[in-house]
Amino acid sequence: MKTPIDHKIVKQEIDKMGLPSVGLASIRELNRIVNNIEGITHDQYIRMEMGVPGFDPPKIAVEAETAALKKGVGSKYPPFDGIPELKNEISGFVKNFINVDIKPVSCFPTVGSMQGCYMAMMCTTRRIKDKNKILFIDPGFPVNKRQASVIGVEYEHFDVYEFRGEKLRAKLISYLEKGDIAALMYSNPNNPAWICFNDTELEIIGELATQYDSIVIEDLAYFGMDFRKDYATPCEPPFIPSVAKYTDNYILLISSSKSFSLAGQRIGMTAIPDKLFNSKGDNLEPYFGSSNFGYAYIFGAMYALSSGVSHSGQWGLHGILKAVNEGTFNFVDSVKAYGERAKVMKKLFTDNGFEIVYDMDGQDKIADGFYFTFSYPNFSGVELVEELLYYGISAISLTTTGSDRHEGLRACVSQTGKERFKDLENRLKQFKEDHPSSGDFKIIEQHL
Ligand SMILES: Cc1ncc(COP(=O)(O)O)c(C=O)c1O
Repeated sequence: MKTPIDHKIVKQEIDKMGLPSVGLASIRELNRIVNNIEGITHDQYIRMEMGVPGFDPPKIAVEAETAALKKGVGSKYPPFDGIPELKNEISGFVKNFINVDIKPVSCFPTVGSMQGCYMAMMCTTRRIKDKNKILFIDPGFPVNKRQASVIGVEYEHFDVYEFRGEKLRAKLISYLEKGDIAALMYSNPNNPAWICFNDTELEIIGELATQYDSIVIEDLAYFGMDFRKDYATPCEPPFIPSVAKYTDNYILLISSSKSFSLAGQRIGMTAIPDKLFNSKGDNLEPYFGSSNFGYAYIFGAMYALSSGVSHSGQWGLHGILKAVNEGTFNFVDSVKAYGERAKVMKKLFTDNGFEIVYDMDGQDKIADGFYFTFSYPNFSGVELVEELLYYGISAISLTTTGSDRHEGLRACVSQTGKERFKDLENRLKQFKEDHPSSGDFKIIEQHL
């Protein structure tokens, strides 16, 4: 069968990686395979495997960082917990867009929100003796579980799709009542399903976190990117939904990678409410040299991990945050195009026999955002990852995300501009022709 990308080369490159299954490859492994195939064939894939920004970094951040470098900050160690100017802007940002008050002292930059997550895992799972597990509210970002494994932390997880709304309470209690859950983690909007928790759910999570003394690690990697509401105006509702409204037991991880298109600079933000930051844990001292949570975070975890964040990068982030806080840079407008792309791309998939896997967000249709999920009749997700590679389309299997929906794949829209829609459509059409589903067979039989 002639496929859009040379069958022999795709097969050869898959085999060369020596993976037990290409369908279970990590995001970066799949990325490598596709790079290799593109290098040999000079065919361009529809790259949907990796969540990277599709836009240039904002000029304002570039200029602020360049100016700092020119001033010579490159030779100076920055404070572990960030330059004061940036700490103030992060605190202001959290107030302006989530409407919570967190003092600058417990707002600090991290090396991407990835490092923020790593620190959060380290500190929450060593805070209280025998409270040492993480509960992932899945589906989720696969590398978070890798982070837990790297530091030797055990975890539990469940797929939240069947436990939306009030049903979430009993499900969470079934884990929390064992008493060993140090932290609960989720991303909101969710990578990969683009589920967005509503206030009822956030209230349940918050209430239970307080009741069972577990810390919510709320990953806001797609800050403000639920485009159904306009969250762009500082100090004005609607505010970004967050568990912060419902408990003091939380840590906010805010990425600048997608919302500000700054993935390459590896700078994110962590904000910890004052009560938790100033609290004590009976198990912190042996690991971090202090039993004070905030002190352990900064002078234990951050010191040991990277001793801070690139000095110039901090000034770059400061530049954009200041503009966003003052209302002179609309960060939501600058990334809204992802939602528009998703709308078109989802239609191209569903017009060609594919189905959206996580298609509902509670009672509503799932929003158009940075990711969507899809399946094709009679294929498992793992099989579909491989088969689509022959059609010049790359995406990851949901199996790697802790999803129960093993038939599904995650697609990221960020690298597929309008100019590629025709290619995508042609490839999907050919896929459909080459793989008539059982429904199509029935239609053909009726016509015979
Ligand atoms: C849910 C989630 N959290 C964190 C990250 C990483 O963020 P950062 O680039 O700030 O480290 C990503 C990136 O894809 C993500 O999807």
